[in-house]
Amino acid sequence: MLRNTSTGYGRVAIAFHWTMAILIIGMLAFGLYMTTLPPTDPATFQLFQLHKSIGFIVLTLAILRLVWRLLNPSPKLPEGMHPLEKLAAHLGHIGLYALIFAMPITGWFMVSASPWGIPTVLFNIQPIPHLPVPEALGTKEQAEAFFKLLHEYGAYLLIALVVVHVAAAMKHHFIARDDTLKRMVSTKPARSES
Ligand code: HEM
Repeated sequence: MLRNTSTGYGRVAIAFHWTMAILIIGMLAFGLYMTTLPPTDPATFQLFQLHKSIGFIVLTLAILRLVWRLLNPSPKLPEGMHPLEKLAAHLGHIGLYALIFAMPITGWFMVSASPWGIPTVLFNIQPIPHLPVPEALGTKEQAEAFFKLLHEYGAYLLIALVVVHVAAAMKHHFIARDDTLKRMVSTKPARSES
């Protein structure tokens, strides 16, 4: 099994990171774009279906990644970092994980609450059941509006966290000149096979 050590990430962790980075940034742009299109156009409907399908792939990858991470703890942050910087990094990572789960889950609740009852069919192949929506949220319209708001503001928060995350990676690479970014690109600095 290939896995990370105390100084580097393994191939699986690197593959999860970049696959999910592409999917999530793509989904943020995709979501913002598709909501500007005429809602009754059949082409828009297909895009919404695709958005939902890719969202379920992200949710599946997020679960697998979290399990992988719990079994293979991440390497330590660089020694030279101030304790407050380390705390900010940990909080940022927790926030990213939370939103990576929250986006597909709020999207799933949103379509489950919709009074239109539009089915979700994964890539037009596998039907996905609707989630039970708590009655405390009011009518279907109210529940849908609630989850839509969470999905929309969750997206803005996720965009902000991704920007900070990328800026921090750049700071490590170009200003602190440590291995933080390099070790998420290659296993070479701390490769271990066991
Ligand atoms: C990584 C996962 C996801 C990301 C990053 C994401 C992102 C977004 C963004 C940025 C928007 C536009 C928000 C707005 O301006 O109103 C959006 C809209 C939407 N998303 Fe997602 N989404 C994800 C997963 C899902 C899933 C799994 C579903 C459903 C199963 C879903 C259903 C929808 C729907 C129906 C809309 C349109 C809301 C409207 O009617 O305005 N999303 N998404």
